[in-house]
Amino acid sequence: NIEQDLKGKKVLISAGGTREAIDPVRYIANRSSGKMGYALAKRALVRGAEVILVTGPTKLTPPVGVTTYEVQTTAELEKAMLTHYADQDIVIMAAAVADYRVKTVAEQKIKKNAETWQLELVKNPDILKRLGELKRDQILVGFAAETTDLLHYATKKLQQKNADLLVANDVSRKDIGFGADDNEAWLLTSKNSPKATGKLKKTQLADLILSFALQLRGEC
Ligand code: PMT
Repeated sequence: NIEQDLKGKKVLISAGGTREAIDPVRYIANRSSGKMGYALAKRALVRGAEVILVTGPTKLTPPVGVTTYEVQTTAELEKAMLTHYADQDIVIMAAAVADYRVKTVAEQKIKKNAETWQLELVKNPDILKRLGELKRDQILVGFAAETTDLLHYATKKLQQKNADLLVANDVSRKDIGFGADDNEAWLLTSKNSPKATGKLKKTQLADLILSFALQLRGEC
């Protein structure tokens, strides 16, 4: 039964973008709407999985039946993913994670006096890479959001992060990627040559990703 093919499986998904505070009123963020990650959570649930969603701030309502944890920063996202990682079957990092955070978050609102203002940023942990290092028998799925040389960078990310499946999307396009209802991707694994999905609704792409991951899970 295709509808319940994820029954008995545990699926952990991250969605949305992380936010890094500058001061009490300002933050650094990105364009992620959460649609891709929420579509994955919804479809995994409908197909019978036990689903945990870890989400950055979005305008979306988490699907009823999905255990949801709301986070703001990359550090919080990392903590939540690591807490739940060990006993999962499939783990998908669809979140747009802030690669840098502000070195010193100001306790009070920063006043606008100077004509220019330089923020010092420090690198955030690479959560997917960490999950790749800790991997036992989970199927680990990452994304690659690129504006040029999509397949080149995605191939590198697949290897460097020890992912089993990498979903590469071109985020320079307005009709797919950030904020859109549609997406189009290349699915990369270490075994087969990249597979183009064509342009799909995010829920349809979510189904493809879940089927691919389930197949890989069956093989290991
Ligand atoms: O939310 P939507 O509006 O629906 O848009 C969907 C999307 C474009 C956000 C989604 O399809 C997508 O591409 N998500 C990944 C965005 C991203 O951070 O890509 P990246 O190429 O910078 O990172 C590569 C992978 O490493 C990703 O799986 C990311 O979650 C992960 N990562 C990145 C940086 C970091 N410090 N830790 C990570 O775990």
